[in-house]
Amino acid sequence: MLHLYLPTTAVEMKNHFINICECKSVSRSEIIKSIRTGGCQTIIDIQNITGASTGCGRCKPKVLEVLMQELRRKNSDDKQLQIPF
Ligand code: FES
Repeated sequence: MLHLYLPTTAVEMKNHFINICECKSVSRSEIIKSIRTGGCQTIIDIQNITGASTGCGRCKPKVLEVLMQELRRKNSDDKQLQIPF
């Protein structure tokens, strides 16, 4: 299933493109893209693909939060696909 997330409010738009990782200049949208299309499933995958959270580490909780949100969304979508019609 193709996941297309488009921010719908000005606040969501700002949060989408703001850098989560200041040390490596990695935005929330880059992290989401690494999960949805890059196959990242762990913080280590995200670190390897985007470089986020490989500096001071201060952003790690935020990166993990985005990862958990995306994994929950994926699991929710997978369950919906298993419903027989
Ligand atoms: S803010 Fe992400 S590693 Fe420092």
